[in-house]
Amino acid sequence: MIIARTADEVRAAVTGEVAFVPTMGALHEGHASLVRLAVGFGGPVVVSDFVNPTQFGPGEDFERYPRDLDGDAAIAAAAGADVLFAPAVDEVYPAGFETAVDPGPLGDELCGATRPGHFRGVATVVTRLYGLVGPTRAVFGRKDYQQLILMRRVARDLALGVEVVGAPTVREPDGLALSSRNRYLDAAGRERAAQVPAVLRALAGAYADGARAEADLRAETPTDGLDLEYLELRDAELGPHDPDRPAVALIACRVGATRLIDNVLLDPADPDRAAHELAAKEPA
Ligand code: PAF
Repeated sequence: MIIARTADEVRAAVTGEVAFVPTMGALHEGHASLVRLAVGFGGPVVVSDFVNPTQFGPGEDFERYPRDLDGDAAIAAAAGADVLFAPAVDEVYPAGFETAVDPGPLGDELCGATRPGHFRGVATVVTRLYGLVGPTRAVFGRKDYQQLILMRRVARDLALGVEVVGAPTVREPDGLALSSRNRYLDAAGRERAAQVPAVLRALAGAYADGARAEADLRAETPTDGLDLEYLELRDAELGPHDPDRPAVALIACRVGATRLIDNVLLDPADPDRAAHELAAKEPA
């Protein structure tokens, strides 16, 4: 694997059907699973490692976001990436860069309601990175479900020629979704964070038992003690919930200063799946 700093270096290193895994670094096993999925497409795999300033709001964690290029390189290489693209800010946003990609009203809902401009920053950097890397596929984790849906729409609406692929969430044995931000949690925070998958587990259990209406599902899902930003039920495309169609339950909350998000897909054709996915496992 090579570490590229410029788009020219990326383009010189890979040709053909490139699969792209955009990341902000601080890689963990969840990212490694995205890279392995990308490798499975058979072409070269480029992983970007860029902490994008335009998707952080004032007072968010841009400055302290974990940065560890050597650790990232080791994880990306072990997972089979061909290129780790770690550009400087002016490679992504050169002097005179003024364009932004607005992902539409869904970008202001859910996480966008408390992070104004966040998804505009994500859509802009991802579109720019596509331009620099030239992929035919891009792999995003389902953990960031709203991001995945929005990036699919952006690719479709702007006819970018990139197929957006969603990858399953990787979890700790107690169900906590892997996230770069988990490393902010101290021991007490880590214990409290386990409540996030526990809430989704309760909801998935109620779904498996036949509850479908939002009020019934919520009644079975206590969130006491959680600093909840939202717990919402939507259809799988993030439109209004329809009890007869595949749905997604999405949660965002704070554990101390750390913001955690998670979600689970609820499929009427396979109502037990969500509960299985979230079941706590024996530690390895
Ligand atoms: O999910 C992330 O890590 C970021 O939002 C992304 C897609 C790499 C854009 O900066």
